[in-house]
Amino acid sequence: MNTPLLINNTGKMQAWSESARSRGLRLGIVPTMGKLHEGHLSLVRVAASSCDRVLVSIFVNPTQFGPGEDYEKYPRCLEADLNALAGEGVSVCFAPSVAEMYPHGQADNLTVEWGKKALCGAGRPGHFDGVTSVVSRLYNAMQPHVAVYGQKDAQQALIIRRMTESMLFPVKTVLGAIVRERDGLAMSSRNIYLDPAERERALTLSRALTRVGESLRAGERDPGRLQSIGNGALSGIDGVEPEYFVVVDPATLAPHENKVDGLLLIACAAKLGKTRLIDNHVYRIQGDDVRESMLF
Ligand code: PAF
Repeated sequence: MNTPLLINNTGKMQAWSESARSRGLRLGIVPTMGKLHEGHLSLVRVAASSCDRVLVSIFVNPTQFGPGEDYEKYPRCLEADLNALAGEGVSVCFAPSVAEMYPHGQADNLTVEWGKKALCGAGRPGHFDGVTSVVSRLYNAMQPHVAVYGQKDAQQALIIRRMTESMLFPVKTVLGAIVRERDGLAMSSRNIYLDPAERERALTLSRALTRVGESLRAGERDPGRLQSIGNGALSGIDGVEPEYFVVVDPATLAPHENKVDGLLLIACAAKLGKTRLIDNHVYRIQGDDVRESMLF
């Protein structure tokens, strides 16, 4: 069990990566905001499967939080996170300060227009600008060959891949599958905010997604009907405030015309008390064949 080398400074981070790259090592990064759980550790394993060294960043990024969101109370527990990473053979934990990541303040940003106003973007204006701004900085600081993200944040992964292609970053975007608790709740650092009653009600999201998956398997292909089945399953439950439930083509984040076909993203967001949770299922549909799938 080797604790990863902790680097807080962008210059030192760049020097470490340059040296590793000059020795021909392939670098994989897993960007995170910390409070690591099994979902993050599974992404570390995905990175390790195609890279010589794995680096994890832990940075609670202020620019992706809106006013009144949980930036201040977001869990910060570097010591525990380093211990979790020690068991996974991670070489470096990059945990910079806000001043390191935003040396000229938070105004200079990288924006990707594609997809930023859909789904989560509708209720969190500016959120994806914050994500692309910090991820581009992480790429410049950490100089990875590969970056691994969780499919749970499906829209985020699509927008980051788009940014990587648009800005010609020489980085491969790779996805890791959603990791769930035994009862189906998607793992999230925010699950710790839930009290026992909210934790129980949080299953409404995964159950609504499963309900739509069952309808797909039963042959339903009408995007509007699938969406209303999901909306119905997410609505009308005390203590669950639905934000959206959508059945969309991941290529456009808009519904398929007429009937769903090919890749399908079924995604939802809801608030349980003050805690906002998201979840999704992805399917590949070919005729009668319906299979769970990765987004890319
Ligand atoms: O998914 C997250 O934890 C964050 O949005 C990310 C990608 C680390 C950027 O801050």
